Amino acid sequence: MKPAEGKVLRRGRVLRTKLSHGTHRQGAATLKILLTEAQVQEGVRRMAAEISAFYGDRPLTIVGVLTGSVVLLADIIRLLGMPLRVSVVQARSYRGASTVRGELMINSDLLPDLTGCDVLVVDDIFDTGHTLFELLNKMQNLGPRSIRSAVLLRKRGRQEMTREPDYCAFEIPDEFVVGYGLDYNDHYRNLPYIGALEAAEIEAGKNS
Ligand code: IMP
Ligand code: MG
Repeated sequence: MKPAEGKVLRRGRVLRTKLSHGTHRQGAATLKILLTEAQVQEGVRRMAAEISAFYGDRPLTIVGVLTGSVVLLADIIRLLGMPLRVSVVQARSYRGASTVRGELMINSDLLPDLTGCDVLVVDDIFDTGHTLFELLNKMQNLGPRSIRSAVLLRKRGRQEMTREPDYCAFEIPDEFVVGYGLDYNDHYRNLPYIGALEAAEIEAGKNS
């Protein structure tokens, strides 16, 4: 059955997912592990299965939002079997050691022609929703046949926009998280799990 547009299909899943797995030291910082590597991989597999069920054998253009989506993009494309075109777009809303959104900059120079294509935009996290909302609006003007979105994480209670991602693997509490592509000041993207940075670590990072 065709899923309804603009609905978080997996909202609430995390309620059944254990969200605390101790801490892990990473350099000078201590991270609280929210999702283990195995949980993340399982969530990505679930999301890929939903995407496959929706598109079937239809050719798809998947567009990763740089830089946070690179790990998810690399994993999810290998779980999709339809004819697939892979591309990227750049969106930046944070500046250096800040956890507060700044003005959004979008660079779509790397995008291929999207006219008449089914497009799936993949991002790391849906926080206020401004980034994905503005990106989807901009890409809608490029004439795709359809445009949907998939994110690994959605932060609970933070959304400021009406549109929601079509696919979402986990809902998490309102904490600043890193790992699996997500960064703080361009660090931690390589961690295979999702960890929360303590406020003190964020403060310390501002001076480094
Ligand atoms: P939004 O526009 O508020 O939805 O923010 C989305 C973008 O902000 C994401 O694509 C991330 O790059 C970044 N972001 C939001 N929350 C976090 C976080 O907890 N850790 C790392 N990056 C985040
Ligand atoms: Mg991002």
